[in-house]
Amino acid sequence: MKQHRFFDFIPFGGDYNPDQWPREVWNKDMSLLKDAGVNFLTLPVFSWAKLQPSENEYKFSWLDDVLDMIAENEMKVCLATPTAAQPAWMSLRYPDILPVDIEGRKRTHGKRVNYCPNSLNYRKFSAAIAEKMASRYKEHPALAMWHISNEYGTMCYCDTCASAFRKWLERRYLTVDKLNERWNLAFWGHTIYSWDEVTVPSKLNDDDTHSPTKSLDYLRFMTDSIIECYQNEREVIQRICPAVPATTNSTGFIKKLDQSRIAKYLDVFGWDSYPSPSDDLSTVALKHDIMRGLKDGAPFFMMEQSPNQQNWQPYNVLKRPGEVRRLSYQALGHGSDAVLFFQMRANCGGVEKFHGAFISHDSRNDTRIYREMTQLGKELKTLGNSFIGATTKARAAIIFEWDNWWAVELSSGPSCDLKYFEQVNAYYAAFYSQNISVDIIRAEADLSGYDIVIAPVLYMITEAAAENLKSFVSEGGTLVSTFFSGIVDENDLITTNGLPGLLRPVMGIRAEEIDALPPDKTNTIVLKQPFTNNSGDAGPQKTNYSCNLLCGIIHCEGAEVLAVYGNDFYAGKPCLTKYDYGKGAAYYLATAGDSRFIKDFISHVCVEKGVTPSLDASDGIEVAVRNRDGREYTFVINHTANPGRVKLGEGQYTDLLSGKAVSKILDIAAGDVRILESDEK
Ligand code: GLA
Ligand code: ZN
Repeated sequence: MKQHRFFDFIPFGGDYNPDQWPREVWNKDMSLLKDAGVNFLTLPVFSWAKLQPSENEYKFSWLDDVLDMIAENEMKVCLATPTAAQPAWMSLRYPDILPVDIEGRKRTHGKRVNYCPNSLNYRKFSAAIAEKMASRYKEHPALAMWHISNEYGTMCYCDTCASAFRKWLERRYLTVDKLNERWNLAFWGHTIYSWDEVTVPSKLNDDDTHSPTKSLDYLRFMTDSIIECYQNEREVIQRICPAVPATTNSTGFIKKLDQSRIAKYLDVFGWDSYPSPSDDLSTVALKHDIMRGLKDGAPFFMMEQSPNQQNWQPYNVLKRPGEVRRLSYQALGHGSDAVLFFQMRANCGGVEKFHGAFISHDSRNDTRIYREMTQLGKELKTLGNSFIGATTKARAAIIFEWDNWWAVELSSGPSCDLKYFEQVNAYYAAFYSQNISVDIIRAEADLSGYDIVIAPVLYMITEAAAENLKSFVSEGGTLVSTFFSGIVDENDLITTNGLPGLLRPVMGIRAEEIDALPPDKTNTIVLKQPFTNNSGDAGPQKTNYSCNLLCGIIHCEGAEVLAVYGNDFYAGKPCLTKYDYGKGAAYYLATAGDSRFIKDFISHVCVEKGVTPSLDASDGIEVAVRNRDGREYTFVINHTANPGRVKLGEGQYTDLLSGKAVSKILDIAAGDVRILESDEK
């Protein structure tokens, strides 16, 4: 695993928009931010129009002043290219910059992230402003990092994109015949005879899903277009300012772009964590672990979270006292090396005027949020560089693939309720609730360090991935796969060799039919033997569990039957199997067990493999562990309103915030957080 350490402090602060305020306010901001312990400011994210009033005119003096002021106040800057929001004059004079949406509507100027990623004019102007900024600020004492653009993600379907898409296809498939074959265009008479006949996905024809393969390739193409936009700016900056690391901030709605491909181009992966009030804590943790997986386990940066409520949820619930602190340590515990926020000062106007901020509209230093931020700032300073660069040692991994996500949800059938992320989250939650560390990986990743690999709903699988999983099992690993796996290749073409396709030999089963259950219907999983629970005793002796969503009807080809369906015409047929393959074993679950089932099943697999929780903790206490240089950093977070208790391992621990020694038992107050340092276990 890579150990990257960019700074010897935890960047704390975030988005700051001084250009929305008169200068008198800036001085006040500096002292309020400094007093809160802020050391890192991200700007000027959306200030392109201020920096470039017209095509040949740039105005940097205000930004010079702000950067100087920040340097004088001993803070660092994450310098953002402002290219997420092009100036109005640019959209007006170069209308090719404005995108066309999937309904075929040409967008007008406005909003942000509202440009065509393939527009040559957009590329030209964004490289030019990046060049100006890099040349001007390359030696500025405040400059610590580059922040290229902001939350990439426009999906454009304009003529420029259409022609770039055709060229992309030509490079990928070489001949039209090959495209006809790989997209199965004989279906509904869509065979083409020249590249010009390729159209982009469009809702105009009510056809968003009639060609899932085309939509899939379009998402891949859009990801490549965004990588080109990033690189277009990054390469200019790199040439002028090679020593300063660069990133961008990925949106929390990560489905639309393949983050695993984008990550390769970033020095550190950055993302914005905005949990919905309805999100489970496991979902927040899962997203952090996804981000940690994107650069093979290297720490990431949480570039934004809200210090309080958001404005764009239907109901913008306040963060409860202590909640931001817990969420911040949760991010650090799962591998973030930064705690950054949107935003430093609340806007007076615009759509985000009710979004939480460090500094309130009336600039007070006695608000609840300002006090909480100040406490957090102090604590992060105390923690210093203790765990920066530390990584996570996980013996279990869950496979998560963007291509698969897109393909599963572009599929017409078997059920509109099948959501890939939810399936992955269900397994993740089972590990999370027991405080067992999990890596989120790609199917072609190196699996040699894991004892358990879970591959939920791995519908799309490449030959390389299947070989990887097979050798993992034959070398002694335990693989868990589920219904709707091993069905299609990378072009969404169904295998004709029986399901689950390339996984069939390692699963020892053959899948025949799949029954989709409407939301009000369930079936039962009837276990032949109850699972062993994690404490090693016989557990609750439960043998019947509920299942829903999809019920695969399968036949054993060597696998042992562990459970059968309880109802319907397939009652008595296998729904959970285990196949000993080489030195390892593969489980296949043909249906979606309820959360209790998944928890007991995963506990059983963990007990079998000797994979144990990081520490034994009472319910609702999260334990996340990072390691570096023979030292271990244990983050204990009490998400509940009750005191909790954790049984510590052997030896002495140091509570990094209080400096006190702790051993054997840690009692933790309701809602509190402790960070313990010890020798590596
Ligand atoms: C995103 C953006 C920010 C801000 C926040 C508000 O993450 O990057 O500029 O709009 O949302 O939550
Ligand atoms: Zn376009």
